[in-house]
Amino acid sequence: MAALRAPALLRAPVPPRAPVLLLALVAAAARVPERCEVPPGDRFDCGAERPLARAGCEARGCCYMPGGPRGAGPPWCFFPRGYRSYRAENLTATDAGYTALLRRCAAGFLPGDVGTLRLDVALETRARLRFTLRDPASRRYEVPLETPRAGARAPGALYGLQFSQDPFGIVVYREATGTVLLNTSVAPLLFADQFLQISTSLPSRFIAGLGEHLTSLMLDTSWTKITLWNRDMAPTPQVNLYGSHPFYLAMEEGGLAHGVFLLNSNAMDVVLQPSPALTWRTTGGILDFYVFLGPDPKSVVRQYLDVVGYPFMPPYWGLGFHLCRWGYSSTAVTREVVLNMTAARFPLDVQWNDLDYMDAKRDFTFNKKTFKDYPDMVRDFHQSGLRYIMIVVSDCPGFTSFPITEGSDLLHKGLQTRAVGRQDLAVVWPGPTAFPDFTNPETHEWWYDMLKEFHDQVPFDGMWIDMNEPSNFVEGSQEGCPSNNLENPPYVPGVFGGRLQAGTICASSQQYLSSHYNLHSLYGLTEAIASHNALVRIRGKRPFVISRSTFAGHGRYAGHWTGDVRSDWEQLYYSVPEVLLFNLFGVPLVGADICGFASDTTEELCVRWTQLGAFYPFMRNHNDHGNRPQEPFAFSPAAQDAMRRALSLRYSLLPYLYTLFHKAHSAGETVARPLFLEFPGDPNTWAVDRQLLWGAGLLVTPVLEAGRTKVSGYFPAGTWYSLAGDSTIHSKGQWILLSAPLDTINVHVRAGHILPLQEPAFRTAESRKKGITLIVALTTEGFARGDLFWDDGESLQTFESGDYTQLLFVATHGALLSELLRTSSQADGLLLKAVTVLGVTSAPRRVLANGALVGDFSYRSDTQASPLEGERCCPPWAPRSWQGTVAVEPV
Ligand SMILES: *[C@@H]1O[C@H](CO)[C@@H](O)[C@H](O)[C@H]1NC(C)=O
Ligand SMILES: *[C@@H]1O[C@H](CO)[C@@H](O)[C@H](O)[C@H]1NC(C)=O
Ligand SMILES: *[C@@H]1O[C@H](CO)[C@@H](O)[C@H](O)[C@H]1NC(C)=O
Repeated sequence: MAALRAPALLRAPVPPRAPVLLLALVAAAARVPERCEVPPGDRFDCGAERPLARAGCEARGCCYMPGGPRGAGPPWCFFPRGYRSYRAENLTATDAGYTALLRRCAAGFLPGDVGTLRLDVALETRARLRFTLRDPASRRYEVPLETPRAGARAPGALYGLQFSQDPFGIVVYREATGTVLLNTSVAPLLFADQFLQISTSLPSRFIAGLGEHLTSLMLDTSWTKITLWNRDMAPTPQVNLYGSHPFYLAMEEGGLAHGVFLLNSNAMDVVLQPSPALTWRTTGGILDFYVFLGPDPKSVVRQYLDVVGYPFMPPYWGLGFHLCRWGYSSTAVTREVVLNMTAARFPLDVQWNDLDYMDAKRDFTFNKKTFKDYPDMVRDFHQSGLRYIMIVVSDCPGFTSFPITEGSDLLHKGLQTRAVGRQDLAVVWPGPTAFPDFTNPETHEWWYDMLKEFHDQVPFDGMWIDMNEPSNFVEGSQEGCPSNNLENPPYVPGVFGGRLQAGTICASSQQYLSSHYNLHSLYGLTEAIASHNALVRIRGKRPFVISRSTFAGHGRYAGHWTGDVRSDWEQLYYSVPEVLLFNLFGVPLVGADICGFASDTTEELCVRWTQLGAFYPFMRNHNDHGNRPQEPFAFSPAAQDAMRRALSLRYSLLPYLYTLFHKAHSAGETVARPLFLEFPGDPNTWAVDRQLLWGAGLLVTPVLEAGRTKVSGYFPAGTWYSLAGDSTIHSKGQWILLSAPLDTINVHVRAGHILPLQEPAFRTAESRKKGITLIVALTTEGFARGDLFWDDGESLQTFESGDYTQLLFVATHGALLSELLRTSSQADGLLLKAVTVLGVTSAPRRVLANGALVGDFSYRSDTQASPLEGERCCPPWAPRSWQGTVAVEPV
């Protein structure tokens, strides 16, 4: 490239008074200095905050090579090899790890460049290390997330460390394999007041995380810029959406994995490039990194959740079917929806209302005409075993309920104070609006008061907190924003709308803990915490909160729905990786609006979406106003049948799903998980994102395209039984084409697992009383295991206080053993009703239950699955006699 350019330069008219300069340029163009000989995929941007021409670029000591579209490929202005930004001094070992001072080698080119930094490295556990870079001379903003305290350095670490002094760099490698997981020497460290940048190499192209985006499971490392800044934005590829999760998991050769978390809440970009490498570029705070060594991907997730918190345990009813739409314009209509669901024999656990219930779209009010009998409606729902949830839009100016006339009092109680004049006032419809500042503890008290007062009238069961990015219909405020560094930072990440204020409030608004500039992406999380805690106090039961805006650690308090998705096939597909990623982020209670929210759905799409939605951990059908109705009863009898089947499949699997949530809550596991979490040693699984697992034992292969009656799925090596027991796959690790007529979703049980199921009913309150059925999926060696977690489904802290029942099931040597690990009063009424054993290779002579003969069993040899079904096989086992055996004696 450079050689080609030289003749062009020579032909250029010679500026009369600059012959020397010209010669210098020709020399530079003719031969690239060695330090600039960097392969395009390895180039790191030296002019990220503004496009530089050659002179500006070279003034920074960087290399300039234009070519390709600016911003979409290799940077035109990039750092040369060995570029010196900071050098490390006085690296010393401490009790926790290491510390060093970093000094700037030469004056930096960014405003507010920090000359001296302090590095602290804490070797926190065998598998987790943390390193921070701070300005020792000033207290900068740090994310107010409670994290575990570091003790003394952990012995036997899985990682090794290397430092390079000048220029400064840190290398983290895996002790066992020598694989370099992190090497920050690949590009210079930059640390200015509003621009912090650090790069690292990646050991593979397989990297997942950095939500929230509309993306495939694995990110694209060929020059992808990923922007994190919470935004009210209908899901669209390549733009920042509602949440920020600055965490990634990367696969390494051999199926090992590690994770990296940057604890920073400022607006940021993360750039992925082909070498492969990654650059974090954030606009404030400090650099605070956690590295998780796994060594397997499941452990990486747990280690991340050890830092940000394990998920909350949802109430059992929250796992049932939820129905909502914007446009249920009165209690009469809402009641009719419930009646229609009942008449059409669809299960339903939770009925919702959108804005329609409010008086002039204000929170904590209801329309005294159209929703006159609102409190009675909710009580009537309770009578019929339903739960009720309504939207709360705490912060949407158009919709909210904090009229400024009450402002003085509310502000007194902790609403966001305003930095300059009335600059926080958002659009006036129906009146000026203030945004509660949930970083202020007083606001939590006020929030509790508001919710309590409302709950005293309308006894709702859970909360839907929406528009909490926070969303604003005017940019910044109706009076604009002041002009200062926070509103106009030297570097603006690739946020949709081009400005930090786009779709939200002014960045320099002051909040209790810091500026909105720093706290913006925490708005939804802090509101979720306030709402979660208020619900605990008001109801004395397990809270259920679904939020649109999220941040790292959100899963401890609330779930998430994926926002305003369109009713189309593309968004149906994207919901799979979105649900999987939120499970990696520790927010397992997640789902997309079934059948799509925006625009009209079609019958086929809605059937397929309901089938997939039956396997979202959070299952809600929700529709925008004005669209074609999409409640299950709104379709043809055939479509309704297919949806009924999907719903009863879900309801029958709820004991298994609930047990998975318990494991997420108690052990940092995922509920819906990508295949690579279970099969990291099989690289074919790494990018699979059109299938999902529930736990380790159930594989779901949905149809995600129109007009298909077959679907191809990847089956890792092993035996997989269709849940219905009518077919078996013995896979060597291969793609398999499955039959998938419109009324069917493919669900396979993995050999070696025992799943607890229950007969479905129209409400979980009913299905919980039905007997338990076990599906035992034997390996070819005749082994399987599983468990069941059970409690009353809604009391607080049942696990923590020991008020639960836990059963372990093991099948081996032709017998199924059930062991009661723990029991509580809640086990009353829990009966084992039937056992189905898949993979019994020859017809049994007799079946015994606790030593007694079972007369009522059947054996099918017509399918490869060979299910042995003992319907009502066992004399109903009373709770205390769950300890027992079912023995199958071969002929
Ligand atoms: C760093 O080391 C130098 C030379 O050993 C010493 O003079 C200086 O005081 C040390 N600085 C700090 C902050 O420890
Ligand atoms: C880290 O990166 C630098 C710069 O590319 C390279 O020279 C060095 O060898 C790398 N270190 C390791 C351990 O890979
Ligand atoms: C309930 O079902 C009836 C009969 O199919 C239908 O006309 C009505 O629109 C439905 N109501 C609602 C609110 O969907």
